[in-house]
Amino acid sequence: MSHTLCVIPGDGVGKEVIPATVEVLQKVLPDLQVMEAEAGWDCFTHTGDALPAATREKIATCGAALFGATSSPSRKVEGYRSPIVHMRQLFDLYANLRPTRLLKMRGSQLAARPNAVDLLLVRENTQGLYAGREYLRETPAGPEAIAERVITKAASERVAKTAFALAEGRRKQLCIVHKANILPLTDGTFRDAARAVGAAHPGVKVSEMLVDTAAMLLASRPEQFDMIVTTNLFGDILSDIASVWGGGMGVAPALNLGAHVAVAEPVHGSAPDIAGKGIANPCGAILSAALLARHYWNLPEVATKIENAVYTVLENGLATPDLGGHASTAQVAQEILGALG
Ligand code: NAI
Ligand code: MG
Repeated sequence: MSHTLCVIPGDGVGKEVIPATVEVLQKVLPDLQVMEAEAGWDCFTHTGDALPAATREKIATCGAALFGATSSPSRKVEGYRSPIVHMRQLFDLYANLRPTRLLKMRGSQLAARPNAVDLLLVRENTQGLYAGREYLRETPAGPEAIAERVITKAASERVAKTAFALAEGRRKQLCIVHKANILPLTDGTFRDAARAVGAAHPGVKVSEMLVDTAAMLLASRPEQFDMIVTTNLFGDILSDIASVWGGGMGVAPALNLGAHVAVAEPVHGSAPDIAGKGIANPCGAILSAALLARHYWNLPEVATKIENAVYTVLENGLATPDLGGHASTAQVAQEILGALG
């Protein structure tokens, strides 16, 4: 069977790490058909659309996409919408898989840690505070800025189903993270839906934790987690905390997964501080492609092969400056290609 991939480098370091990732994928999947597409801020400035119709059609045609990052302005720009948030809603990519594995890089402080960290966070990916319902309202006391946090039982259930199914294939432990003590309606809905799905998975040990405690424990005792399922914004923040154990932003992978479409995407953004220097770490993007192989193309051997190559190179100490090394994006990518045999 041939595999098709829509490749969207986006902005900043996306233009550097994505071509490196495509090379890796082409090596392990020689039949891969690639369709290039554009999205992001640069695309918006010259086309007026951050996710043009042609790109949306290519994603739908391919089913699988690989996306770099975009530079989203932190002010309202008329007509601009973050393309990744747009893609998640448009293609109903309801689960965001974000694994972290302890990086045992030679000579690093992380390698000295006694217990292994190997966790998978599943983030609800279409609702919560990212539902896009933000507006201003005039009040006698002045303008009021409001963001609506949307949580439905149906969306909570389906992300929980994905998380519990994945937990069955891991260490059979899942922690439901929420803030239902302060947000009993929204987070209560999420928590109750996840609990109900858990009842159908008696082999999985379920626990619950408030999000602030989860943040503290992810920073201090990450090895106690196997899997976490949580709402959109909490998952965004908690996965960045967890990523530190895996080597940080340059290494953290993600997969946006729906029923029909999947978009692999490193957790990092466009990194304007290092963009154009050729020193961006390609590992997060390459590990995201491995997630696509494992969970969308159902090619676990291919995924493991890519992951082993990345970890062999990193653990041997060849690294970009974010990990304390001196290697370029191209050098790391070449080593990984070499490690693939
Ligand atoms: P960022 O993730 O781009 O950068 C945070 C830090 O991590 C920086 O010090 C950067 O140099 C470093 N970093 C990120 N990727 C790296 C890589 N591959 N190799 C080595 N170091 C790396 O987050 P920041 O600076 O908060 O946001 C920059 C822009 O990216 C903003 O416009 C933001 O909206 C956008 N962004 C986009 C995302 C996406 O498209 N999925 C996700 C997060 C941010
Ligand atoms: Mg984030």
